[in-house]
Formats: sequence, structure tokens, C-alpha cells
Amino acid sequence: MFGRRTDRQTSAPTQSDTEEMGSDEMATRSVPGKGGSGGTGVAEPAAEVDDGQHGFGIDIGGSGIKGAPVDLKGGHFAAERLRIPTPSPSTPGSIADVVANIVGSFGARAGDRAIGVTFPAVIQHGVARTAANVDSAWIGTDIDALFTARLGRRVHVVNDADAAGLAEARFGAARDVQGVVIVVTLGTGIGSALLLDGKLVPNTELGHLEIDGHDAESRAADSAREREALSWEKWAHRLQTYFQTLEKLFWPDLIVVGGGVSKKSQKFLPLLELRTPIVPAQLLNDAGIIGAAVLASEEAPATVR
Ligand code: BGC
Repeated sequence: MFGRRTDRQTSAPTQSDTEEMGSDEMATRSVPGKGGSGGTGVAEPAAEVDDGQHGFGIDIGGSGIKGAPVDLKGGHFAAERLRIPTPSPSTPGSIADVVANIVGSFGARAGDRAIGVTFPAVIQHGVARTAANVDSAWIGTDIDALFTARLGRRVHVVNDADAAGLAEARFGAARDVQGVVIVVTLGTGIGSALLLDGKLVPNTELGHLEIDGHDAESRAADSAREREALSWEKWAHRLQTYFQTLEKLFWPDLIVVGGGVSKKSQKFLPLLELRTPIVPAQLLNDAGIIGAAVLASEEAPATVR
């Protein structure tokens, strides 16, 4: 039920999944069911998470739902991440069950702060407002309320690119950058995060700018590159148009490019000619989980509503 189909998988990826698909190792290490574990390379010992410095983040994607305790000061996982395949159909109820399983499997290590969750749609005060790459049944769902009721503890849902962008601003490629930063995630769709002096302006949805009569993500997302088997040069040409439009409209001080394909940024970033500095994201697969945990700890009270 998650979005468009691609040639590569039966359940179409969201931004988060496209990031993950960039790593073959990650795909084979994913373990179905409760108690399985998908590594991230940040396999620290599973310390007790009770020192007030930890939150918990979950990243909902089209093929996998991933969660980990997060060190909110250090900006990294505090224990190894758990990944459970996204159920099909991906109804709000079945996804809520997986989210509850993931949090439950960490026991006390999930801490007692509000749980942060990413979702690939506009999330206005906890309510999904769009469904570009997810089932339209999600539109109007108060995901905050649904997950909070299912888990019996406060859950705070945010847009996936906003979470990733916030994480890059705090701990990654845009750390300590003042002024206007735009983080763009290239995956199934195009996600965006707009930051001013490190503060997030949520739900910018700049992947849906209309350019030359097209929804930008339908031409310039990484899924378009794959679907149309575009060469790096051809895809870079489309990205050039996209990023040029962004800089014409927003005059950012920095553009950060995330999504799984950013691991291959050397193939396309050098082909772009922009006046704005443009750099690859640094936190990659971890950004959504980390950003969601940070946003939840700062925006949501820990108590159940
Ligand atoms: C959605 C955004 C999302 C992005 C990346 C877009 O199609 O509209 O909300 O952030 O995809 O997943």
C-alpha cells in the first residue's frame, strides 16, 4: 500500500527505504519479526538508557520500519538498530503494531521520553495531510493520536525529510551553519527540509515544485533515474534544473543532498553548476531516526495525552 512500484521491489520504497537499498549489506542483515536486528555500523553495547540523555526514533519506510535509542547529545544510536519489514497492507493499524513491537523490544532502553517517528508525508500537528507516495488512506489520520494510544506513551510524528534535515543541521553536514539551509532527500520522492539558523520550518514539500509543467520529484527523484535508466549525466541535467530553481527562489547559503543515492554523490554533484555550495549528507541511513528522536524530545511532552 506504500506508493508507486518500481522494478526493484514489490513494495515501493519511500525515501528512507531508498537510502537503505543503497546498502546491500544492510538489506541482507535485516531480520524479520520481533527481536531481529539490522545493523547500522553504530553497534555500541546496549547500555541502559536512563540518564536523561536518550530518546528513541523510528523511521517508517515502504519496505522497512527501523528504530533505535538515540543519544540526543551525541547524535548517534545508543544501541543497535532494529528493523522489521513493513507489513502489507500497510494500514495505520498494522504499522502501529510494528512500531509498538519495535519500542517494546527495547524495554527500558527505549527510555521515557516521547518517541519520535518519521512518515513520508506532510504531518501537520500529528495529522497526515498528503500521500504522494503512500496510500491515500493515511490522509487525515491523526498518527500522533493513533500511535500514542497503541503504545500507551507519547509518540510524536514528523515528516521524514524534516527529521533527516534537522539531524544534518544538528550533527551532520549542516552543523553550525547559520543562515538558510535546504536539505533535499533524493529517493522515491524528493523530500525537503528548510532551516534558518538551525531552526526547522516544517513541511516545505519542495519536491513538489512544478518545473516545466512537471511535479519536480516525478522527473528528478532517484526513482526517476532508476525507472528511466538515466545516465548520471542525464539525471544531473535534471538535478541542475531542480537545484537552480531552488536557489532562484530561496537563495540558500547551503544545500545538503541526502537519500541513499547521496552515497554516490561523486557521480553527480561534480556535474552541477550552482552558485550555492552543495554537499552530501553525512548521517545517511541514521538521519531520520536521530532527527525524529530529537524533534520528539524537544516538541512533545513525554506523558500520554
Ligand atoms: C512527500 C514528502 C516526503 C518525500 C520523501 C514526497 O513525495 O510528499 O512528504 O518527505 O516524498 O519521502
